[in-house]
Amino acid sequence: MGNNQGITILKIGGSVITDKSADNGAARQEEIRRIAEEIAGFKSRLVIVHGAGSFGHPQAKRYGLTDQFDPLGSIITHRSVKELNDIIVDELNEAGVSAIGLHPMNCTISDDGRISEMSLNIITSMLDTGFVPVLHGDVVMDKKLGTSVLSGDQIVPYLASKLNAERVGIGSAENGVLDGDGKTIANINPGNFDNIKGFIGGSANTDVTGGMLGKVLELLDLSEVSNTTSYIFNAGNAGNISGFLNGESIGTAISKTEP
Ligand SMILES: Nc1ncnc2c1ncn2[C@@H]1O[C@H](COP(=O)(O)OP(=O)(O)OP(=O)(O)O)[C@@H](O)[C@H]1O
Ligand SMILES: [Mg+2]
Repeated sequence: MGNNQGITILKIGGSVITDKSADNGAARQEEIRRIAEEIAGFKSRLVIVHGAGSFGHPQAKRYGLTDQFDPLGSIITHRSVKELNDIIVDELNEAGVSAIGLHPMNCTISDDGRISEMSLNIITSMLDTGFVPVLHGDVVMDKKLGTSVLSGDQIVPYLASKLNAERVGIGSAENGVLDGDGKTIANINPGNFDNIKGFIGGSANTDVTGGMLGKVLELLDLSEVSNTTSYIFNAGNAGNISGFLNGESIGTAISKTEP
């Protein structure tokens, strides 16, 4: 036990599994079921992280959680994203995946918005025993701020580097990182990022954690600290999640150097 070889980390974006334009939690049950079935075919060690979509961003925005400590807002936001986690974990189990929900609020402390500690031993024990931990964007306790909003996009590179993951992918509702003509950029690395960053923005919907630019910055950082290549791809297209899990390079690759 304790062998971390071959871990895959997959994020499923809130823009795919929820109607992100809604003011309050609206799950896309059919999409969640399809995704659960694609994941069921994968038999290696897997950590799933999902976004909050309309089960977290509108609530966090309503209570101003990125600017202030608000106990009631923290509770409401946490409960809402937990509800989405239950829906996803139920569908995964229905599809035959031994999924267990793991709420960052209960296993993470941040410091000024960045993860300071996470109970990695719980995650590695689950992986060692064949469970699939399912984490999510959440409100977490924060040493400086009281609570802070923790993006799934920050959890992914944190776990990738701590668990020495082999494959890292973030599925969202666009074909990858798009350029000014709407074409998918094949590769982003620290060398070409300055020429590309003008094309990358936040989110078309409510997103309190930086939208597409937030993802790219997190994954560029990961490429530099651990030399990991990761992928941003469209999880809304049937077959992409199973393709990624089976080793395909899809969407935009984020890497330390040009491929
Ligand atoms: N250059 C770009 N290429 C692709 N998408 C972009 C770009 N610039 C901005 N975006 C926006 O990024 C958004 C996707 O990020 P967002 O954080 O909303 O999705 P998500 O991660 O699936 O959701 P969640 O944060 O709830 O998990 C889309 O709304 C898209 O319009
Ligand atoms: Mg987001």
